[in-house]
Amino acid sequence: MSDELPALPSDKIPHHVAMIMDGNGRWAISRGLPRLAGHRAGTESLRRIIRASVDFGVKYLTIYAFSTENWGRPPEEVRGLMRILENVIDKELVELHKEGVQLRHIGRLEGLDPNIQAKLQKAIELTKKNDKLVLNVAFNYGGRDEIIDAIQHMIEDGVLAAEVTDDMVSNYMYTVGIPDPDLIIRTSGELRVSNFLIWQAAYSEWYITSTNWPDFNKEEYHRALEAFAQRDRRYGGVTAAVGKVHG
Ligand code: FPP
Repeated sequence: MSDELPALPSDKIPHHVAMIMDGNGRWAISRGLPRLAGHRAGTESLRRIIRASVDFGVKYLTIYAFSTENWGRPPEEVRGLMRILENVIDKELVELHKEGVQLRHIGRLEGLDPNIQAKLQKAIELTKKNDKLVLNVAFNYGGRDEIIDAIQHMIEDGVLAAEVTDDMVSNYMYTVGIPDPDLIIRTSGELRVSNFLIWQAAYSEWYITSTNWPDFNKEEYHRALEAFAQRDRRYGGVTAAVGKVHG
C-alpha cells in the first residue's frame, strides 16, 4: 500500500480493474496542443497507474489503448498511436519486467504492422512468468470482433450447440484465463461502453470520472477503489441484509 493514502480494506480490492483511458484529445485541445500531445501525456498517466495498481494490490489491469474503431481517426493520429505502443515496449519493457509485470494482449494482432506484432510477441514471451500484475493491453480490440472470433473458433472446433455454456464461451474469449473485470473505470465523463469487454463486463461495477485521462492519478484511482469497496455486488441476486429482490 501507498504511504500517503489511507489503507483500503484488503478484502475489497478488485482483482481485475479495466480502464477506458478517454479524454486525451480534449486534454490537448484545451491547452492548444495537438491531439498526439494528449496521447503522450496519457502515456505518463498510464505509467503512474501501472505502478499504483501494483501498490494497491490489483492483480489484473486491462487498458483500452486502441479500438477497432480508432482506425477511422486521421492517419497521422493512427500512426502516432502505433508509434507510442512501440515506444512503450522499447523503453518500458525492461523496467516492467523487473517489476514483475506480465504483459498480455487482447485484440486482433494480425491486423497490426508485422514489426509491432513481433515486438508485442517478444514482450509477451519475455514476461509470461511474471505474477505481480498482469497488464492486459487492448490494442486493435473490439468487443464484437472478440465475440465473432469466439463463435468462429467454436464452429471450427466442432462444438455442439448443447455444449455451449457460459464457461465455454469465456474460454474462447481473448481474455481466457483472466477473471472478469470487477471494476471498470472510464475517464472524461462519457457514459458509454464503447465496445469494451462487452462479454466480460456483465457484472462489473463502473466508476466514471469527468477527469481527462492525462490528469487521472493515483489519488483519484484510490477514490475509485474506495467507491468500489462500498458497492454491494449482488449479481442479480438479493442482499442478505435487506432481504428483498433487486435487479
Ligand atoms: C482516448 O482518448 C484514448 C485513446 C484512443 C488512446 C489511449 C492511449 C494512451 C493513453 C497512450 C498509451 C498507449 C499505449 C499504446 C500503451 P481520445 O483521443 O478519444 O480523447 P477525446 O475523446 O478527448 O478526443
